[in-house]
Amino acid sequence: MANDQATQLGKVGVLFGGRSAEREVSLMSGNGVLQALRSKGVDAYAFDPAARSLAELAAEKFDRVFIALHGRYGEDGTLQGALEQLGIAYTGPGVMSSAIGMDKIMTKRIWLGHGLPTPRFMVLERATPAQQLRQVPDVLGLPLMLKAPHEGSTIGIAKVTGYAEMEEGFALCSKYDATVLAEEFISGRELTVPVLGQGSTARALPVIEICAPNGNYDYEHKYFGDETKYLCPAPLSEALTQQVQKLAVQAFQALGCRGWARVDFMLRASDDEPFLLEINTSPGMTGHSLVPMSAKQAGLS
Ligand SMILES: Nc1ncnc2c1ncn2[C@@H]1O[C@H](COP(=O)(O)OP(=O)(O)O)[C@@H](O)[C@H]1O
Ligand SMILES: [Mg+2]
Repeated sequence: MANDQATQLGKVGVLFGGRSAEREVSLMSGNGVLQALRSKGVDAYAFDPAARSLAELAAEKFDRVFIALHGRYGEDGTLQGALEQLGIAYTGPGVMSSAIGMDKIMTKRIWLGHGLPTPRFMVLERATPAQQLRQVPDVLGLPLMLKAPHEGSTIGIAKVTGYAEMEEGFALCSKYDATVLAEEFISGRELTVPVLGQGSTARALPVIEICAPNGNYDYEHKYFGDETKYLCPAPLSEALTQQVQKLAVQAFQALGCRGWARVDFMLRASDDEPFLLEINTSPGMTGHSLVPMSAKQAGLS
């Protein structure tokens, strides 16, 4: 970034911290973003919405903000709505795309409406009786995934490998949400693809393959471990790479995203068919994060 570009941005707030279950991750993301902006000569300041009212952004004449919050109240459209009301420009997708992207069930419904591939699923209400829970594997097979639809960073996720585990997994996930997403398990390789841009100009960055020990890509491994290996660009055929990147762009466009997002996939081992899992509308920017890794591969700073 040239120096005059940096000054043109004016006073920039980096929003991080926040009140979601992903606060800890956001602190790491935000510090990274803040240092990077300052190193480019941007007049950037830390701003933690858990500690201060958003109204202070207007009162202190911030020109724009970089959103480095994850999860509820940061990534879910509520913050984006408040910033619209305050008239402060922000990074990443707008109100509607953020709100839909935060909800794994709504996201899947939109994708299905566009004919995009996503694993088969059922929506379970919190009050679902145990007897009914035990019928879910008959429909989706085993293993299956249970997810709290509004969480991220692998919080509120359970892999169920037997009928007897349904209740325990369901109890864990329904702690976080009034509904639980039950999803067919896709056995295979895990991929993620950042997308930049908007509408017809949206483009995918290089595909990353995530190789977790025992396929166990959990919270600790994601943010604190060194055992997970990342391959970028993912070792896929040219045709498969293009197919996955095209799907990522379509998934992004279907939700009306702009700016950036990161789309998670499973690539089914039996036939190399890609399935969309979820979209992250405020991707991580920690030292372990994937968008910076892929951007670097694409030659972006
Ligand atoms: N249907 C599925 N089949 C196989 N593995 C899955 C499936 N859904 C999720 N996973 C695994 O769980 C991880 C987290 O799931 P994801 O839906 O991306 O939620 P989040 O990243 O918000 O926690 C994925 O990265 C993948 O390793
Ligand atoms: Mg994910």
